Amino acid sequence: MVKFLIDTLEQKHILSKSEFVSLIKHFDSQEISNYLFEKAVAVRQKHYGTTIYTRGLIEMSNYCRNNCYYCGLRASNKEIERYRLDKETILACCKIGYELGFRTFVLQGGEDPYYTEKKMTDIISTIRKTYPDCAITLSLGEMSYETYLAFYQAGANRYLLRHETANADHYALLHPKELSEKNRKQCLENLKKIGYQIGTGFMVGTPFQTPEFLADDLLYIAQLQPQMIGIGPFIPHHQTPFANQKQGSVQLTLFLLGILRLMLPAVLLPSTTALGTLDPRGREKGILAGANVVMPNLSPIAVRKKYQIYDNKICTGDEAAECRFCLQRRMESIGCQLVVDRGDAKM
Ligand code: SAM
Ligand code: SF4
Ligand code: FES
Repeated sequence: MVKFLIDTLEQKHILSKSEFVSLIKHFDSQEISNYLFEKAVAVRQKHYGTTIYTRGLIEMSNYCRNNCYYCGLRASNKEIERYRLDKETILACCKIGYELGFRTFVLQGGEDPYYTEKKMTDIISTIRKTYPDCAITLSLGEMSYETYLAFYQAGANRYLLRHETANADHYALLHPKELSEKNRKQCLENLKKIGYQIGTGFMVGTPFQTPEFLADDLLYIAQLQPQMIGIGPFIPHHQTPFANQKQGSVQLTLFLLGILRLMLPAVLLPSTTALGTLDPRGREKGILAGANVVMPNLSPIAVRKKYQIYDNKICTGDEAAECRFCLQRRMESIGCQLVVDRGDAKM
C-alpha cells in the first residue's frame, strides 16, 4: 500500500493530504525509505546525471530585527556578538569563491536595516558587473515589493525565503505576532511575479509540527512550484525560547527530500549544513535521498562562529577552500561530481 503511494507520487507528482500523511508516517521504515530513495535518485539522475551543483554562501550579517523563536540570530539574543560585512569584504569573498569555481553567490543574513535599499543595490550591481557569468542569490528575509524589484533590477536572479510552515496556527507558534504566514507567502508571490527564480522550504521537526502540517507544506510547495526547496532539521539554539525542544529527525528530513524529488523532478534541492551538523555523513545521505545541491560557506573565517543560527553548526573553523574540497571529496565518495556551473534549475 505504501509503496503504491510512492509509485503514484512518481507518476503523478502529487498525492492528497491524507495520502501524504500516511506516507510520511512510514519515514522510519528502512524498507520504505530505500524504495523511495532509489526512485528519487533515479529521477535526480535523469535530470542532472551525477552532477552536484555548488553555491558559495556569504553570511553577510547576523544582525536581525526579528524574533523568530527558533533562531539564534533573533533580536532579543543579547549574548551573541554581532557583525556585518562591508561591500569590500563581500566582494573579497566573491573573488575567493570565483577562483574556487563557484558560479553562484548566496548573500544571506538576518533582516538588518543597516543595508538600506541603496547600499544593497550598490553591492548587488557591483557583483553583477564584476561577475556577469554568475548567479546572485539573495536570502535576506521579508521586504517590500519595491525593494525586491530594485534588487532584481540591480542584477539579483534568485531569492531564498523558506515559508517555514504553511499552516497559519503553526506559524504563530514559531513566531511573534508581528510575523505572519500570510505575509511570508505574499513575499514569495511577489518575488515570483518580479521574475526571480524562487526558493522556499521549511525546517523538519520544529516544535508542534505534525505529519498533517508537513503534508500542508508539501501541498503548498506543489502549488507554488518553486525552482529551489531548502529543508533541514530544526536544531535548538541554547539562547532561544526553544532551547529545550527536541531536535528534528535526520531520517524524516531524508524521507522528505525523497518525496520532494518525486514531486518536483527537476527542482534544485540542497543537502543542507543542518543535515551535516546532526550526522557526520548527513550531506552525503541527503544526496542519496534525492538532493542535488551543496552550499559550502564562503564567509570570512573571523565571523563564521558568530553566524550561529543553531548550536554546534559545522564548518565554523574551516577556510572556504577547505570546505570546497572537503565537499568535493564527499561527493566523489558517493559517485557524484561537483561542477563549475551556475546551476540553474532545468524546469
Ligand atoms: N533572515 C532570513 C530568513 O529568515 O529568511 C535568512 C536567514 S535565516 C537564518 C535562514 C533559515 O535558517 C531560516 O529560513 C530557517 O529555516 C533556518 N533556521 C533558523 N533557525 C534554525 C534552527 N534553529 N535550526 C535549523 N534551521 C534554522
Ligand atoms: Fe532573523 Fe531569519 Fe533568524 Fe528569523 S530566521 S530571527 S528572520 S535571521
Ligand atoms: Fe566544511 Fe567539510 S564542508 S569542512
